Order: sequence, then structure tokens, then C-alpha cells
Amino acid sequence: MPLTSNGRMRSPRSSSLKIVGHSPSRVEGLDKVTGRARYVDDISIEGMLFGRTIRSSVARGKLRSTRFLGDREGFTIVDHRDIPGHNVVAAIVDDQPCLVESAIEHAEEPILLLAHRDREALLRAHVELDIETATPEFDPLHSKTVFKHVRIEKGDIEAALADAPHVIEGEYRTGAQEQLYIETNGMIAIPEDGGITVIGSLQCPYYVHTALVKLLGFAPERVRVVQAETGGGFGGKEEYPSILAGHAALLALKANRPVKLIYDRLEDMVATTKRHPSIVRHRTGVAKDGTILAMDIEVILDGGAYTTLSPVVLSRGCIHATGAYRCPNVRITGRAVKTNTPPNGAFRGFGAPQTQFAIEVHIDRIARQLGLDPIAVRRKNVLRPGDTTATGQVMGRDCSAKQALETAVKSIPPQRRRKSAAPTDIGVGVALFFHGSGFTGSGEQKLKSRASLELTANGVMVHAGSTEIGQGTRTMLAQIVAEELGWPLARVTVSKIDTQIVPDSGPTVASRTCLIVGGILKRCAQALRLRLAGMTPKAYLGKHGPLVITEHYEKPKEIVWDDETYRGSAYAAYAFGCNVATVRIERETGIVTPLELFAVLDIGKAVNPVLARGQIEGGTLQGVGWAVLEEVRLENGRMKNGQLTNYLIPTMLDSPRIEVAILEHPSKLAPFGAKGVGEAPIDGPAPAIVNAIRSLGYDIRDIPATPERILEAACDSD
Ligand code: MOS
Repeated sequence: MPLTSNGRMRSPRSSSLKIVGHSPSRVEGLDKVTGRARYVDDISIEGMLFGRTIRSSVARGKLRSTRFLGDREGFTIVDHRDIPGHNVVAAIVDDQPCLVESAIEHAEEPILLLAHRDREALLRAHVELDIETATPEFDPLHSKTVFKHVRIEKGDIEAALADAPHVIEGEYRTGAQEQLYIETNGMIAIPEDGGITVIGSLQCPYYVHTALVKLLGFAPERVRVVQAETGGGFGGKEEYPSILAGHAALLALKANRPVKLIYDRLEDMVATTKRHPSIVRHRTGVAKDGTILAMDIEVILDGGAYTTLSPVVLSRGCIHATGAYRCPNVRITGRAVKTNTPPNGAFRGFGAPQTQFAIEVHIDRIARQLGLDPIAVRRKNVLRPGDTTATGQVMGRDCSAKQALETAVKSIPPQRRRKSAAPTDIGVGVALFFHGSGFTGSGEQKLKSRASLELTANGVMVHAGSTEIGQGTRTMLAQIVAEELGWPLARVTVSKIDTQIVPDSGPTVASRTCLIVGGILKRCAQALRLRLAGMTPKAYLGKHGPLVITEHYEKPKEIVWDDETYRGSAYAAYAFGCNVATVRIERETGIVTPLELFAVLDIGKAVNPVLARGQIEGGTLQGVGWAVLEEVRLENGRMKNGQLTNYLIPTMLDSPRIEVAILEHPSKLAPFGAKGVGEAPIDGPAPAIVNAIRSLGYDIRDIPATPERILEAACDSD
């Protein structure tokens, strides 16, 4: 029952649902298009100063001293000695200082903070840094520091490889990528009542809260985090805003004034996190007919200078490294290593796009080496209900990888399916993928997310810590609650994100908001309906007084996971998808133009089909950029193309025609069957495009597939 691009619903199930499965306008949409929405840089507070960060000019060294040159009048100056608590950016491992004390581990590392009333004076200020330089390491293959190892084993890999008629090897590389939200990072800190309030652009209010408590040594109730309207995140505002919040807070506390810290585009590009560059190596045992017998996979992620989220990016990347295929014998070894570049971090997909790029290009190479059709090889090995993944998770009835593949294949015009004798400049490539939603393994249990519904005079108010970052969280959560209560959407409001108001619903990441937080709120709504027993909110409040219903995440009994052995159910639900890319190549210049991208995605249920399609179109285009355009150029460990004039992302003119088909095989562990849509769309475009390029005779195994790479690869591909 595909839901096609024109948005008409053809699923018979939808008839019983009045709000879920329909596409009301996003609740904050009018404020955004009329300019009423206030982003952090729109906010001004009486007496506010502006902040600036003084950063390291070298990739590695030892800070000897700092010297402020010129007139200090009106300046607030903060260094590591002004930190009242612990000098760390709280994350999985507390190895990253908020401000350099001595060791410098990457270019642009924050050393000193300045604040001043006058932005111009602030920009003119000059600080001299005396740094003893050391030799940096930029090559992940030479790194001696491993942040995290992952090992996944299934069956007997050595025996299976030894017995396999064919063993096909390959190495695949992907580059860094900037999230490139429209709104750069920004934060305002306000010293208030002996505590601190921060207002900013962010995905995860409670990550910022935890980080401030640790940095400042304040009691949790003295720290308040408020989200301003946020112009995009894509993972880039998952962990990074903890740094801005810390810096703004330190300045504000020292100046005893509000301080606004906004990065301009250049600073945001050169200093903040990127998608982890990856190297993935495959050794695959295959039968003559294309049946995959053994998969030996090595995953190496470049973590940059500090751990940040690398362990979980690696873990997700490794779990997705087999792609949506079944295989009885698997070994996946992964490591995330340190290099002296700014730390890499969360970016939509979180490791899965990197590893699925590798397997999908590898599958095409396997097919070619065996003289088989790449679609036939996928069809033979695709995960089906009852099959197990690398971690031993049994696929449920909603496992629709095969349907996604067949739906996508049907879109290929017959004349493009056969290899024409005449040389052509139009290529077609396919990529299959899957994507687990929510935190990996026991992650959701550890998070213990909460969300609440508060009865109001004419309806209900949703209290959840899940942020709207442009993807439609507020509308989607309100739809789930309204549907469950059987009320019109207008009676459901969603409270603003403020840690004094909303509970910790976990971070807004990992395609988890609909599946996990939507699930909690659906249970809140069920409980509320029982409690009201048909009374109107007004009548209930009049008789019994205020009512707030809070529910916690509850682990489905089907989900069992062992953190030590990486065995079990890694995710409660998976999206399945398949992309078909059609590209044109200009052989003289090596310029690749993606013409069409057909994106099939099974998300279980489109809670709001228009918003879901927006996620798929956006993620697809971001994948196109990663595949052919976006290249982070480093010089001595510093990004040297940190501007939109030289770091190219796709504009509308660069966009292929994107056609979306949504499949709905619901998961019984998901609210209304909805399995999550945020990240999956970015898994397929890059391998589909590269496979399309490969079909034209270019042996591309690394992205971005820039014209330079294409011209170098102009030999027969294997
Ligand atoms: Mo995301 S990359 O899980 O913010």
C-alpha cells in the first residue's frame, strides 16, 4: 500500500484513524512563516553582553600562556581557572575540557572567552597565544588511541570463509560532512537567582542541563535550560550546544550579566562536529549463485580529538554494517580512533550511512565479479521475516526489505534495466538499507524517559522534553495524543521546552521521538481517557482538581540485549528502504548530475504524511550532497573551506527529481505502528548514486565522488 508523492493515502487502515495518518499543518508553522518565531539571535536582554571564543591556531601542542593585548576596559575575560565545577564537557566519557588548561588536541579548540557590550570592540580584541607545538596525528589508520572497540560475532566466520567458493574483498571510504543547519549554533546565558538560565538552539535540553551542572558545580535546580526556536539540528545540535552553553554561562557568571554567544557560519563550520569519516573493509564469502555465506567486516571511524559520541556512533554503524541482508556467519570488528581534528559527532544516521554505503557498493561489486544482476543478488539475500541480523535479532512480520526492494525496482524503466550495447552517459544504481530506531540495545532502558499530559480547561497540554528542530515533533506528538483521546487536534497543545516545565524525555535523536516518546504519550492518553471516564476536562477539573499523568518508558518484553556480547535485539523497530538513483555523467569533466532519486521507505505508519515526506526528501537530498558535493578539506587539521562558497551543498538546482513512496508495514512495538523516519532516508542515496556511477565504468569506492575522483577512476570497474 504505497503512499505516493502526491500524498494520497491508499491504506485501508487509515479509515479508522481521524488524525494520525492525516497531514494537519505544523503547529508552529504560522509563527515561522510570519517571522513571529524567535530564534536565539532574535532575543535581546537588557544589559546583555556579546561573547567570543579565542581558539587554538594549531592542531596539537601545549599552551604556555595567553596575553590580552590592548585596553581591557569593558571586557570580561574567562579562562579555565574561572570554572567553578569540573572542566569537562559532560558526555559518555569526560575527556574533553570546556576550556584548554594546557594540552591542545585540535585546531580551533577553545582556550579563552571574551565578553563585551560592543560587538565591534569584541571582534577587534586581540589575544596572543604562546603555544609549544607538537606533532599531530591525522591518519586514523596510524592512531594509537582507540576510543571504543566493537565486536559482533555470529556463526563460524573462519570456517565459512575457508569453504566459500568465492571470497570478494573491498575497502570503502566516506568523508566528513557538516550538518549545515540553516541557523548556526547560539546560546544566551542569564545569571538569575543565584543560578543560571540558558536559552538556545539545541536538540537535547537535558544533555545541556547535565553538562552545566557538572561544569558549574551547581545543584540541578539552579540550572535551567530553555530551547529557543531552532533552525535545524541533524545531530549537530545534539552534543555541541553543551559547549556553547558552558561558555556563555561562564562569561555570564563572571560578568554578572546576560551574555549572548552566536557563531557565525565560518566559526560554526571550522569548530563544530562533523559526520565521522569512515573506512570499511569487507571480505565476503559467496556461492556461485550469489548467496552470501560469510561476512567479515572491519569498521574504522575517525573520532577526532575527543570521545564525544563516537562509541555509540560506532556501535550503530557496526550493527548496520551487514546491510539489510541475512547471513549465517558474520564477524564485525569496529574501532573509533582519535585524531587531532575537531571532534566528530552526531549526524543524522549516526554511523549507519557510512557502513551501509560500504556494503551496498560491495554488493554491486560482488554481482559484477560473479556475472550476476545486482538486483538479483539483493533479492537472494534480503532480510525476510524470521531471519536474524548479525546480533541475532529475529526479524518480525513488519520486515519489509523485500517489498521495499521490489517497489523500488519497479520504478526502473525497462530500457535502463538492461545494459545497452551503445555507450551511454546515463547510469542507474540501487541501494537497499534498514535503520533501527531508538537508542541501541539497552540504551532506552538506561534513559528511563518520561513524558506527561496535563489536563487543561479545554483539553490537554503535552509535556515532553522532545524538541522541535524543524522535523515536526510538536505536530506529530500532538496528533498521537489527539488520536488516542479521540479529541480534535486543536484541544491538544504542546508546552515549550524548558527544563523547569518538561520532564526528561531523553534526547531528540536516533529517530526515537515518535517511536519512544510517542509511545509513552500514547500510554498517557490511554490512562487519561480512563481517568476522565467520559467527563469533560472542565467538569473533571471542577470536581477533582488538577490532573497530570506521567508515564515512563517501559521495555517491551521482546527486547532482550546483552551489552557485553552484542547479542540480542538491538532496536525495537526498523525502517526498511530502497533507493534507485539515475545519474548523468559528463565524461570530459567528470561532473555527475543526479537526475532522479526514487526513495522507497517503510516507516510502519506515516503519522503525518506531509511531514514524513519532508523528512524523506530532506534526508535524501542531504545524502546526495554527501555522495557527490560535500567535502571537508583539512589543512593542518583545520577546515579550510568553511564557507558556503567553497563547502558546497546541493541547492534546488543541484537536486535530482525526488520521488517518495512510503510503505506501511506497522510494528506492533510502535505507536500506531510508526517505526521512525528521521534518519533512514540518508542511508541509501550515496550508495545508489555511486552504484549508478559504477554502472558507467568508473571504479568509485570512496565519497564524495567529486569530478577529480571520477576522472581518476575512469577505468573499468570490477
Ligand atoms: Mo542524531 S545524529 O541521533 O542527533
